[in-house]
Amino acid sequence: MTASTAASKDSSDRLVLGIDIGGSGIKGAPVDLDKGAFAAERVRIDTPAKSTPENVAKVVSQIVGAFADQIGDGPIGITIPAVVTHGTTRSAANIDKSWIDHPAEKTFEDVLERDVVLVNDADAAGIAEVQYGAAKGHDGVVLLTTLGTGIGSALIMDGVLVPNTEFGHIEIDGHDAESRASAKYKEDKDLSYKVWAKKHLQRYYEVLEALTWPDLFVVGGGVSKKADKFLPLLELNAEIVPAKLENRAGIIGAAYLADNWKG
Ligand code: BGC
Repeated sequence: MTASTAASKDSSDRLVLGIDIGGSGIKGAPVDLDKGAFAAERVRIDTPAKSTPENVAKVVSQIVGAFADQIGDGPIGITIPAVVTHGTTRSAANIDKSWIDHPAEKTFEDVLERDVVLVNDADAAGIAEVQYGAAKGHDGVVLLTTLGTGIGSALIMDGVLVPNTEFGHIEIDGHDAESRASAKYKEDKDLSYKVWAKKHLQRYYEVLEALTWPDLFVVGGGVSKKADKFLPLLELNAEIVPAKLENRAGIIGAAYLADNWKG
């Protein structure tokens, strides 16, 4: 959507639908942006086996339909596990490769007949943690990483997001970082939290720190529920804390960005 149509609304109008597209499920809920919380129970539908833009847009349309009477005709926010530049998806992680170089925001807007703000999944989670979660009230540079099937990242300075950082793909010791430090790698190799943290996460975060020098690291992804088993083992200059919003972060961040996107 364009900057002019995405201007902030007043607080009486702050119920915005967020939708989180993942490799296995597509989830959505209306978000109360004053509280940073769901205003109704979330709806989840399996991601279609063939997760093309057309098939995914049909599922998204069902979710929008489920909340039509609560969300008015304002813009909605959608996350996707892909780089998104100016509404076009440039990559595709765990979704059909036909998303690459697809004008995805327009596809959603055509099917839904409403304005859409489409953002990378980790960017949405990061902005949610800064606005409402673990990094709320922290000034300076916040770097969120999501440890899941891959690694997503969001770099935020005083509340302003630098989109599409893709720090899961920095090369470390000859490898794509997420191929050694993701939660999936830990599971696939059946590593203990201690071995994963000491051998892989330590190296990953110290390289990230040397490149970006954040004031605060926030660690998200499902495994962050077990953060006490691995975050205390890491030795870094910056504070490193678990995310707070769990699997709600993508939906909440998408809704927030739909209400605040300037670009
Ligand atoms: C993708 C990112 C995405 C992350 C988490 C990575 O493999 O490159 O775009 O944010 O996975 O889904």
